[in-house]
Amino acid sequence: MPLRCAVLASGQGSNFQALLDRKAAGDLHVEFVLLIGNNSVAGAFEKARSRGIPCFHLVPSQFSSEEGYCTKFLEILTEHRIDLIVLAGYMKKLPPGVVRAYHRRIVNIHPALLPAFGGKGMYGSHVHEAVIEYGAKLSGITVHFVDEEYDHGPIILQRAIGVLDSDDPHSLAERVLAVEHACYWQAIEAIAAGRIVIEGRRVMGVGEMKDENNG
Ligand code: GRF
Repeated sequence: MPLRCAVLASGQGSNFQALLDRKAAGDLHVEFVLLIGNNSVAGAFEKARSRGIPCFHLVPSQFSSEEGYCTKFLEILTEHRIDLIVLAGYMKKLPPGVVRAYHRRIVNIHPALLPAFGGKGMYGSHVHEAVIEYGAKLSGITVHFVDEEYDHGPIILQRAIGVLDSDDPHSLAERVLAVEHACYWQAIEAIAAGRIVIEGRRVMGVGEMKDENNG
């Protein structure tokens, strides 16, 4: 049985689109059965709706307590029999109860090489601004399991690209995003195929990356 994935997204959903394309191409063997987002006009919602994937708009302000928010989140995930939660540009912190319930079953993609340029406030263009301002010569992408700290869980795969002298945050973001699209599915496919072995913080079994994009 293919893994049943929930995608959580806040933005345009280009990573979600790249995953859907990989599935359509026959490279990625999972089912995308649910979309949860905190912004119902986000592009990701449109992509899901047009494919008949159930969508839920969930934000803490809809609930009188953090507990109610978490309970609803878990209820939706359980109802849809979710095996794996895929964060694809999801800008909200997940309720800790969800993180605990889906231990090592939540993956995220971060647009830099963790543990550098991660943590609270390091999202979107802030990441690329920080990389350039620091003068780092390499950036890239990190796919990792999610734990209760921002950008902290065990790393599944990373891919580096060079920062060019001519880069500004926008040009760097564009090249990094292309690498995200080329790589995220490979981590998810390794999980789906049961190839992943976790020992402490070490995640093994992703194998050789398919080198389609050198940044
Ligand atoms: C990506 O850079 C991702 O790494 C970050 O948010 C961005 C989302 O882009 N977490 P998209 O919505 O998938 O196009």
